[in-house]
Amino acid sequence: MADDDRLVSPEPEDGNEDSIEKSLRPQTLAQYIGQEPIKHELRVYIQAAKQREESLDHVLLYGPPGLGKTTLAMVIANEMGVHIRTTSGPAIEKPGDLVALLNELQPGDILFIDEIHRLPKIVEEMLYSAMEDFYIDIVVGQGPTAHPVHFPLPPFTLIGATTRAGLLSSPLRDRFGIVEHMAYYQTNDLQEIVLRSADIFDTTIATEGAHEIALRSRGTPRIANRLLKRIRDFAEVSPDHSMIDVEIVNHALSLLRVDSAGLDSTDIKLLETMIDYYDGGPVGLNTLAANVGEETETVAAMYEPYLLQRGYLKRTARGRVVTAAGYKHLGRTLPEDNRG
Ligand code: ADE
Repeated sequence: MADDDRLVSPEPEDGNEDSIEKSLRPQTLAQYIGQEPIKHELRVYIQAAKQREESLDHVLLYGPPGLGKTTLAMVIANEMGVHIRTTSGPAIEKPGDLVALLNELQPGDILFIDEIHRLPKIVEEMLYSAMEDFYIDIVVGQGPTAHPVHFPLPPFTLIGATTRAGLLSSPLRDRFGIVEHMAYYQTNDLQEIVLRSADIFDTTIATEGAHEIALRSRGTPRIANRLLKRIRDFAEVSPDHSMIDVEIVNHALSLLRVDSAGLDSTDIKLLETMIDYYDGGPVGLNTLAANVGEETETVAAMYEPYLLQRGYLKRTARGRVVTAAGYKHLGRTLPEDNRG
């Protein structure tokens, strides 16, 4: 199965998911559910910047995909009352692309760069002076007519988002005054997000149904909203379900092969392969990926983080190991020599 066909993938789907996600997006910090410590800090920084009539310090948001980094950047722009331009690291191929973006900014505006770890080095280096002192030096012309031009910028805020903070160079990381780690969402927050989304979709849902979706959404709002949409389809075509109750959630998710902890068939295959062929590990990531027919990068980015977070898998110096909790989740007996 292609990774982006996967129901519980934290990556956005192609097609119209983007527009649905937009319709669900909160506009203000008050509407934004979860991530309490981050919201608390941001409220202070936003209010202080507004009182001083200054641009907000540069913000780095890092954490797994699907947790609402883009949404939060838009909320910040709204709360600051400024425009936001959004782009991504891979979309800025050359210095001229960055100059064009910076050139359009008005004082206080926000430039949002998603996947900022993927900026070309030469572009990243231009950002240093832009972020620190609001200017860039560019070379105009070629050959003998080439000359440097000093290009002042309005004060602006860069919001960078990354799933891989470790890949950011320290000169770039050090230029963000505000650095926030977005964590997987708590079940009660996801439940609230599902209830809010159902309301926007004009769909009736029982609290227990929303709770069950929350439990199976891998701590990720994007997945919760995707499961909600699919389950709504099941409820709407079912003659005996006028609303999304826990029964239809369980029915739909068992057909969709999303288990009680949100694992899909590939997650389970990964754990079972480790248990059945490698006595629970340690197994190298490459070997494991080959065994389940996935790319190593895919396993590292899309499968492993959640299995680690659930505590079903752990990393050791010699490779990945299935934990006691992993055995228990699959209903397997932990071998005697693995206990303790
Ligand atoms: N939809 C997706 N993420 C959300 C969040 N954190 N708060 C409210 N609605 C959301």
